[in-house]
Amino acid sequence: MVKKVAILANGGDVSGFNAVIRAIVKTAEKNNVECYGFIDGYRGLLKNEYIKLSTKDTASGILHKGGSIIGSSTNANVFNYKVEENGQVVYKDLSEKCVENVKNDGFDCIFTLGGDSTQKSARDFSLRGLNIIGVPKTIDNDVPCTDITFGYNTAVTVATEAIDRLHSTAETHHRIMCLEVMGRYAGWIALESAIAGGADAALIPEIPYDIEKVANAIKQRQKEGKDFSIVVVAEGAFPKGGNIAVENERDGGKGVINIKLGGAGERVSKELEELTGLTSRCTVLGYMQRGGTPTAFDRVLSTKYGAKAMELALEGKFGVLTVIKNGKLDYVSLEDVVGANKEIGAVQGGTSVSNTKNVTPDDDLTRTARDIGICLGD
Ligand code: F6P
Repeated sequence: MVKKVAILANGGDVSGFNAVIRAIVKTAEKNNVECYGFIDGYRGLLKNEYIKLSTKDTASGILHKGGSIIGSSTNANVFNYKVEENGQVVYKDLSEKCVENVKNDGFDCIFTLGGDSTQKSARDFSLRGLNIIGVPKTIDNDVPCTDITFGYNTAVTVATEAIDRLHSTAETHHRIMCLEVMGRYAGWIALESAIAGGADAALIPEIPYDIEKVANAIKQRQKEGKDFSIVVVAEGAFPKGGNIAVENERDGGKGVINIKLGGAGERVSKELEELTGLTSRCTVLGYMQRGGTPTAFDRVLSTKYGAKAMELALEGKFGVLTVIKNGKLDYVSLEDVVGANKEIGAVQGGTSVSNTKNVTPDDDLTRTARDIGICLGD
């Protein structure tokens, strides 16, 4: 019997965290289950810091709010956690302390709201004996086994609005406008917003680009009397035979998410200016994609995910992730989510080698983009 549960939100924030929390709390209360929230994700689990969540106060009026009322941590892999010992930085497996905290305080289930690295740790905690139910979050939409993650639609909507705004300034000044969007090693945000915003080119990590091809597409538009172009560049896009653009390596390359991508848009912009003779400007959209109010789509998706997660807990189905499969609400084993990345506590997630869902050549979005003549740089 599930009587006391806790939620943790982990990884980079997205619009929709609070909507999931609210749905879990509401479904829990309807079934006389007490609900708590660990503060700042896995870090709260380690420090045993949590608050009571209730629709009477803490979890009231939060559906439309961005961020997370219980915070969220990046770089908090408790299986490989940064600590200082005798003035030295060392990385330690502190997961047993988390397991103790959960068992001592009698939580029957922990809901882990997060992306690929969060769900990898969730699966590892499952193997350590905790009852875990994951909910797939990330603006990047790269969590395996689900059609869509919460937060993604809001990010695409923000990127689309940015493209609309760039269109008018590009047209007025006869310029190329490059828009760098997030997505880490996946091109979902770039590709979908390029289609939604009517961009002329979309460069994504899954298709290394040839800048000459992009320049030629822009020159062709010029010949047809269109002296402006919009190019959407995923932060993880890179040229054929070249490297991904890295802004810095945090934590000396240790911990979980240690590489901060950045510079892909500026690189493309400079090269296109040289090759086409047109003025080019780059806009980096950044954290705008993650903040603020969720779209109606994300509110509904998050609510479905939260309610389903609590339903699964009541049914005693643990070690799973709520998913949307072919448009229907469902769940899969966390084992399927981590894929071949089976080793407990291995440095994983948020890296170019983690088990992620990427854009494929035969995806509807890729085919549609090609059909309508969006240059993908190949
Ligand atoms: O994974 C979500 C994401 O927003 C990526 O799109 C981006 O590369 C990264 O997080 C930024 O991470 P941070 O919040 O640590 O700067």
